[in-house]
Amino acid sequence: MLIVANWKAYIDSSAQAAKLFATAKTLALFKGTQIVLAPSFVHLGLLSKGNRSKVAFAAQDISIANMGALTGEVTGQMIRETGALYAIIGHSERRARGEDNDIVLEKVQQALSCGLTPILCVGEAERDEDGHYLNFIRTELHAVFSVLNPKERAKVVIAYEPIWAIGKSAAEAITPTDLNEMIRYIRKVLREYMPEAASKKVQVLYGGSIDATNIKELQEAAPIDGFLIGRASTDPKTFRLLVKAVSV
Ligand code: PGA
Repeated sequence: MLIVANWKAYIDSSAQAAKLFATAKTLALFKGTQIVLAPSFVHLGLLSKGNRSKVAFAAQDISIANMGALTGEVTGQMIRETGALYAIIGHSERRARGEDNDIVLEKVQQALSCGLTPILCVGEAERDEDGHYLNFIRTELHAVFSVLNPKERAKVVIAYEPIWAIGKSAAEAITPTDLNEMIRYIRKVLREYMPEAASKKVQVLYGGSIDATNIKELQEAAPIDGFLIGRASTDPKTFRLLVKAVSV
């Protein structure tokens, strides 16, 4: 299981960040578990540099360009230099601030060109009875997968995060049945862009109101490879419970 802890802007002190990192290091020793921490850029620089543990790091975002007059941007090269291996791209909280599918594609390309694994977030804002939400996901995937070459496609991790289920309680998270349907749909779309064997290897994660009460059930309900967890990943005790629940 790949567990990506998206700290968003919840963790705002280096002491808190160090404590969570220490917890993650012990959890990363569990069999079959890869932990990826996504701190703020500031804490990424502090924690990831010189990291020799089994914990890997992700940036929460990446610049669309590789250098130049880009005040406030953090480029893929800078992220790579911290030792981070992943970049979360197209999170709905970034898309809500104007990031469209074209920008997301450029960011994915930047990440790949810097040797970072993109964690591409897709997710619909709402569900409808006519299945338009499926087309919405297809469009988000198409924007990236139709442009990348076969080798690049195989490197992308997908995080399915329905916007309506982010930052809520477990009661409002997706149902096991709906998750299963969507993950199977995503895998079907992937098969349009790569041979079946390669599509099966693409890691697909779920994110949105995961906590210790629903993680196991959702893991068992659908062919997923892990979770992208926000709020519940920022409390050491809860994070421990989450990782333990899905580790072998
Ligand atoms: P949440 O966030 O676990 O707090 O719902 C998930 C995410 O936005 O990545």
